[in-house]
Amino acid sequence: MTGKGGTGKTTVAAALAIALASGGRRTLLVEVEGRQGIAQLFDVPPLPYEERQVAVAPGGGEVSALAVEPEQALLEYLEIFYHLGRAGRVLERMGAVDFATTIAPGVRDVLLTGKVYEAVRRRGPRPVPGSRAPSRGRKSSSKDEGPVYDAVVLDAPPTGRIGRFLNVNEEVVGLAKVGPIRNQAGAIMTLLRSAQARVHLVTVLEDMPVQETADAVEELGRIGLGVGGVVVNMVREPFLPEPALAGAVAGTLDRSEVLAGLTAAGLGRRSRATGNDTSPAALADALLGEAAEHGARVAMEHHEREALQELGRPTYELPALATGVDLGALYGLAERLREQGMA
Ligand SMILES: Nc1ncnc2c1ncn2[C@@H]1O[C@H](COP(=O)(O)OP(=O)(O)O)[C@@H](O)[C@H]1O
Ligand SMILES: [Mg+2]
Repeated sequence: MTGKGGTGKTTVAAALAIALASGGRRTLLVEVEGRQGIAQLFDVPPLPYEERQVAVAPGGGEVSALAVEPEQALLEYLEIFYHLGRAGRVLERMGAVDFATTIAPGVRDVLLTGKVYEAVRRRGPRPVPGSRAPSRGRKSSSKDEGPVYDAVVLDAPPTGRIGRFLNVNEEVVGLAKVGPIRNQAGAIMTLLRSAQARVHLVTVLEDMPVQETADAVEELGRIGLGVGGVVVNMVREPFLPEPALAGAVAGTLDRSEVLAGLTAAGLGRRSRATGNDTSPAALADALLGEAAEHGARVAMEHHEREALQELGRPTYELPALATGVDLGALYGLAERLREQGMA
């Protein structure tokens, strides 16, 4: 899940993880930006570098979450590829781990995508519903071993960085000619380019986020990554029917009718020469001014919707919730995604 910052990436990723877990499935929600956004949203303590169940889904599903930290991921990586268990700790003390993960952004992204890849590929016993997330690496002789997660949802970096982030392993393939790292990088790219992986975009109906969405669709297509759907978040219903909106913008609404309505409702007073003019006439003008602004805004949104349609991707809409997004609201958003067929 990517999108311009602030459009609701984390929120929509979480809603999608719940929606995909509905009906007894298991999903993993992963964040890579070190913000603990998931913990806040699900109202749980900060996530350790370990998968934790954070929610149940309608019909017995489970949502686990993981906050990937690049430093931990690097130590894990060194252990897996170089068996550098203790030596890795020494590197950490020397500051080499910090260096690699903060100074070299490419290294960071290799590690983060690697962790997601590992979670997608992990196979194991299907846990009993209601039990905790399985500890990593647990072996079992169970016969119905399959993917541990039915879906992994990544709260990915924003649109401005998504191309480089997801394509970073392509650069590694180019750099490392042979060996385990090259193989790993190649396998990650193969997964990301397969039908198993989709990049969904979140946007709101404003110029910049829509433009960034269009740019990202173009960039992702160019590097061979599959774009899934476009989620239009924080959609507001117009306050007025279409003809009234057009009239408001054109300034042709019947002012005397507005005035009569205000008077009938007992709104507005004759001005008392105290500065603020709250006479019905002044209120009517202010209202008509607001209606014109609202009409212009709805027209702009209409235009942005058309631009999104032109991308030719399935689109899904989520309402702007006046109360903000708490856990209950998150389930509501998940339901809306399901109704619209995203999960
Ligand atoms: N549909 C919505 N209705 C109301 N508020 C929303 C909605 N979606 C997101 N928000 C709020 O908008 C803010 C940004 O959302 P967030 O998911 O953190 O965005 P991002 O991860 O893209 O930065 C948060 O305060 C969130 O609660
Ligand atoms: Mg976020």
